[in-house]
Amino acid sequence: MKSEILRALRESDGEFVSGQTLCEKAGVTRQAVWKNMVQLKDHGFIIESVPNKGYSLISSPDKLYSADIKSRMKRDSFCQKIESYDITDSTNTRAKHLAELGEEEGTLVIAEEQTSGKGRRGREWKSEPMTSIYMSVILRPKISPIHVSGITLLAALAVVKAIKKICDVEPLIKWPNDIILGKRKICGILTEMSSELDYINYAVVGIGINVNNKRFPANIKDKATSIYLETGKKQDRAQLAALTAQYFGEYYKKFIEAKSLEPFTIEYNGLLINRNQEVKIFYGMQENAEANKIETGIARGINGDGALIVDTKNGTECVVSGEVSVRGLYGYV
Ligand code: BTN
Repeated sequence: MKSEILRALRESDGEFVSGQTLCEKAGVTRQAVWKNMVQLKDHGFIIESVPNKGYSLISSPDKLYSADIKSRMKRDSFCQKIESYDITDSTNTRAKHLAELGEEEGTLVIAEEQTSGKGRRGREWKSEPMTSIYMSVILRPKISPIHVSGITLLAALAVVKAIKKICDVEPLIKWPNDIILGKRKICGILTEMSSELDYINYAVVGIGINVNNKRFPANIKDKATSIYLETGKKQDRAQLAALTAQYFGEYYKKFIEAKSLEPFTIEYNGLLINRNQEVKIFYGMQENAEANKIETGIARGINGDGALIVDTKNGTECVVSGEVSVRGLYGYV
């Protein structure tokens, strides 16, 4: 109901909305509208109320709050249910727990802070409070487990599209799913799943976006940046989270219908930072580990399975995500 009230206030573009209109739009009584207004004000929304005119939304707090995020998404959006937390261990862990309990596909878990944020390859994902976006979506895709990595690439497309739309910058993708701005990483994506040999019980796609961070710890500051650091502008995290979820849902529905990444390869390859550039392929779990086989080649783009096509001196290789990591010859990208 709060999301419908916020939606109605936002759609009025600063004009006052009468209590009666809000009752009709939210499908509740005057008293319920009033009670929800009080609760929204407690959450930090500044709402002006004038007798005989109604209500007007003056400003929204810089918070990732479920009703606010929902009010910014289309009504028929894929993410119909949103759970927001001030703090959690990891939104992926939380989403997996909910999925185990039978939570439906499309539920979005989002948090202001993570105490055990997880990155790929067992790494930690540093999760500074109140500056970033930590979000995970529960999925129950009826596809073979071998195709699940495609979902991560779709999440990358969704993040780029949302950032372009709101922040007026042009991020690129480092295959398979790092989002890059100014040669540094602003977003990482981690997809986890519970599956049988040929059946996915559920998957969780987790997205961490560095939005308004002003600094990074010494050990990652050469590789990591934020949208704020690259644009000099504080960004609207709730809007960015809402659009990312919205776009992800749209890509995901299309992917499930097509059962392939084929419809997305042109868009994805157009965003690939290493396209037609020399890259190093590390076969193994640890980058730079001596035991790993390393090969160099020219990255050409992804195919319909999401594999990276690399022309090497031994011929064309289709590099599958999960088995390898790819870096530019002289640094992270
Ligand atoms: C990477 O290593 O690049 C992947 C990072 C993924 C981080 C996000 S933050 C939200 C979700 N919850 C987690 O614990 N991890 C993912």
